Amino acid sequence: MKKFTIIKNNMPYKVRFVNPQKQYADHRDEFIKAFDDVLSRGDLILRKDVEDFEKSIASFVGTKYAVALNSGTDTMFLPLKALNIGPGDEVITVSHTFVASIAVIVQAGAKPVLIEVKEDFTMDTDKLEAAITDKTKAIIPVHLNGRICEMDKIMKIAKKYNLAVIEDAAQALGSKYDGKMAGSFGIIGSFSLYPFKILGCFGDGGILTTNSEEMAEKIKLLRDHGQKTKTEIVCFGFNSRLDNLQAAVLNVKFKYFPQFIKRRREIASIYDKGLSNVKEIKLPPGPDSDKKHFDNFQNYVLKAEKRNELAAYLKENGVETLIKDPIANHKQSGLGLSHFKLPYSEKLANEVISLPIYPELTNKDIEFVIKTIKDFYEK
Ligand SMILES: Cc1ncc(COP(=O)(O)O)c(C=O)c1O
Repeated sequence: MKKFTIIKNNMPYKVRFVNPQKQYADHRDEFIKAFDDVLSRGDLILRKDVEDFEKSIASFVGTKYAVALNSGTDTMFLPLKALNIGPGDEVITVSHTFVASIAVIVQAGAKPVLIEVKEDFTMDTDKLEAAITDKTKAIIPVHLNGRICEMDKIMKIAKKYNLAVIEDAAQALGSKYDGKMAGSFGIIGSFSLYPFKILGCFGDGGILTTNSEEMAEKIKLLRDHGQKTKTEIVCFGFNSRLDNLQAAVLNVKFKYFPQFIKRRREIASIYDKGLSNVKEIKLPPGPDSDKKHFDNFQNYVLKAEKRNELAAYLKENGVETLIKDPIANHKQSGLGLSHFKLPYSEKLANEVISLPIYPELTNKDIEFVIKTIKDFYEK
């Protein structure tokens, strides 16, 4: 039996924002085989499937090491701990991101310094140098929606001031900048494997990439309570491990990863063509719009006039969308960040809306979304 979420007038959504059931159905036999294999071996924690996955990601991103963790949050938090960044230190990132990029700085005991993003939602590098003080220890550039920040500029500034760079590439596995993969610029590349990420498991997960053996080793200790062996504990750590069963799922999905990226870029291109004449919306840069960026289109985010009305109209007509950031992070009253004045990020909070984008969407679905958006602005 197909399951739908019921919206107004008992109408099911025609196009869901995400559809994990479809991907499961498409590869069901392989998943079941993987579950059966792992469970029959009794291999549950830090076993071969995790190691295989780490090897695949390191080789794909082009780094010497990859370490699999429980989330794309701890893949930033543990590196901050490993770098001894904490009280008295400052770390620069953006406000227009998922709150985790800021939370890890606070949880490490350091002070977040938030700057603006540019039109394409990546860090405004023109504002970076002015935010650096003698307390700054690191920069967390966020490759939002799968578009990589201007890493050449960021790495140059980081080198000049001797700052660590932890790339928040949670949304950017497979994206490239100047032909170089997300996660291969900074000391750490941090990826989320949350179910709705471009490569997602069936629960929470994350993986980080690095060329530093020292960082890889430290983080492996930190993820497993400092246990060097079953009996030797060399530091206090955390439980931040990726489950072996999740790794087995990821190993199945990773075989299809090039196809996932290709299809997302195709969908972006269809949206781009279909919506480019709608003057009330501003589209993200198209897949082939500039030679420097190769975006994985983890998300497809528009800036739209009458954004809330558009979202309501799409919902009424069976299209599920997401407004992820209706309040800028630094304006969230519980976070104590309201001293930052970031007018562009605040403006974005009123404009952004994410359209459905995932490999299983059909061209008919995409055309329906396009038509419904056009109908809204023409009515
Ligand atoms: C930009 C960004 N950073 C960090 C994270 C945190 O990842 P996770 O949810 O796996 O902890 C996410 C995930 O939503 C994200 O989108």
